Amino acid sequence: MKSSLTLEQKYDYYERSVQNAEGEVSFMKDEFKRIYKRSPSIFREDFCGTGAMSCEWVKGDKNARSFGIDLDPEPIKIGKVRHYSKLSSAEQKRVQYLEKNVMTVKTPPVDVVCAFNFSYFIFKKRSEMLRYFKAVRKSLKKDSIFFLDIFAGPESQKLITDVKKMKNLTYYWECQKFNPFTHDCLFAIHFRDAKGKKHKNVFTYEWRFWTMPEIRDILSEAGFSKTVVYWEGDDEDGNGDGVFTPAENAENCDAWVSYIAAFRD
Ligand SMILES: C[S@@+](CC[C@H](N)C(=O)[O-])C[C@H]1O[C@@H](n2cnc3c(N)ncnc32)[C@H](O)[C@@H]1O
Repeated sequence: MKSSLTLEQKYDYYERSVQNAEGEVSFMKDEFKRIYKRSPSIFREDFCGTGAMSCEWVKGDKNARSFGIDLDPEPIKIGKVRHYSKLSSAEQKRVQYLEKNVMTVKTPPVDVVCAFNFSYFIFKKRSEMLRYFKAVRKSLKKDSIFFLDIFAGPESQKLITDVKKMKNLTYYWECQKFNPFTHDCLFAIHFRDAKGKKHKNVFTYEWRFWTMPEIRDILSEAGFSKTVVYWEGDDEDGNGDGVFTPAENAENCDAWVSYIAAFRD
């Protein structure tokens, strides 16, 4: 079904609702520096969509280079207007969008790869996920990190809608299908705009709902030497405070998002 939004609105609403390129790039750079005592320079953003993080990565650092990888020309085209065009010409020279498959793309060896907003859940077979993780590991330099995000918690597998109200925009995250046998699932993003008009199924995702232990096992099988989970702290109302720190275990809260860092060596 054709969306009632323009492409600019579609990606503007998406990024305002689910992305924080500045925060996530500084999280990855800070963790890398803390661990390896040097700054990372080359970054690969898998499933990059508009490449917001690839553009953020090169800001203000003349040694930083990035590659944004996505199969779909639509978000790449929008990202070049929304993000790339706003960089200085020196920064632009250090960003490359590649309209390619993350399974087969070739890039120079990189310090950091990320796969965010659960995009790798698109691979439903274990053998496919293993092949993807092996391809990522092969793309990395020595002493390097693959960052992924992951979500779960008992509420996240129920057929319910999570609602987030923002200024002039409401975001809806709906679990439309969940098969307990296979973990095949369907999620959808809807928006309500400033005029009160609802735009349904603007983005839909047919995924396998992978669990944390499965993903960590496959990363290990792909050759990553270690994985670390970053868990979010609580604010005084018991909501996430946006601060993620390494953890060994956590309370089984209703719904959660965390990061996994997988170390090549
Ligand atoms: C959920 S969006 C993620 C966008 C952005 N990375 C973010 O964090 O919000 C998933 C993106 O992955 C892309 N994609 C799906 N399969 C892919 C593949 N095998 N190789 C490259 N891109 C792929 C889709 O075109 C889509 O733009």
